[in-house]
Amino acid sequence: MKHDHQDAPAAPEPSNARSGPLRIDLLTLFPAMAEGFLKESILGRAVQSGILDIRTHNLRDWAKNKHRRVDDTPFGGGAGMLLAPQPLFDAIEEIRTPGARVVYLCPDGRPLSNTLARELSRAPHLIFVSGHYEGVDQRVRDALVTDEVSIGDYVLTNGTLAAAVVIDCLARQIPGVLGDDQSLVGESFDEADGLLGHPQYTRPADFRGLKVPEVLLGGNHKAIGAWRKEQRIRKTMTRRPDLLPPGFAETPPEAKKPKTKRKAKREKSEGAEA
Ligand SMILES: C[S@@+](CC[C@H](N)C(=O)[O-])C[C@H]1O[C@@H](n2cnc3c(N)ncnc32)[C@H](O)[C@@H]1O
Repeated sequence: MKHDHQDAPAAPEPSNARSGPLRIDLLTLFPAMAEGFLKESILGRAVQSGILDIRTHNLRDWAKNKHRRVDDTPFGGGAGMLLAPQPLFDAIEEIRTPGARVVYLCPDGRPLSNTLARELSRAPHLIFVSGHYEGVDQRVRDALVTDEVSIGDYVLTNGTLAAAVVIDCLARQIPGVLGDDQSLVGESFDEADGLLGHPQYTRPADFRGLKVPEVLLGGNHKAIGAWRKEQRIRKTMTRRPDLLPPGFAETPPEAKKPKTKRKAKREKSEGAEA
């Protein structure tokens, strides 16, 4: 069954019940485009440490003709070529394991989000299908694809980079992939509040007269937490009000600040007096 196109809030799902690595297969005409990316940095380390098992495949390996051709012209005419069904059917049917999700990257798919990435990261096995030219024969999408994912409202020449983006995004949701899983807390689109991230600074505290906000230097973690939250709210209101709950923008930012204990106590006693 194809998964719902709507990016509804994540239904509570059991956390990753896999005992081994997450197996990811990528079917593409351009394996080299993804291989370098998937070997580097955090993803490379996740593969080395056995959290991810990523396999890239050249779709042409399943072509059955002399020239390893995998495309053909569209019925009904029109510009461009389409990836034909036979190599994709053969490849997916060979690679697929029970419970695998077959993800086709396409501009008309479900928009990628952290919520969707988290959902995919819990699958037992993922197969990414990268399109090229005008895309793939619709019968592949109807019969084999379980998820259709778009990385944005624009059109790329092929889906390999899009697959790499989705793999990167879902991998960092898997415990152990990031050096510190706390990195996910308070960053943009944090599942707890959906806000954008706060500004960050490192040494020196004064660079060419550009100073780090005083509050971050004092070591008062409560005050730092309150400042960060306020910055996140302000930034989200300015840049992405669509991420906020309805009516939120009408509330003055001061009213949204996390209250200090003293302030809460004062408000309570004022309320009791009134
Ligand atoms: C030129 S595009 C095909 C566009 C297609 N004819 C359409 O109108 O939607 C070629 C391939 O690039 C990939 N692609 C392009 N834009 C994408 C996006 N925004 N998100 C994910 N994949 C994309 C898909 O795999 C697609 O099959």
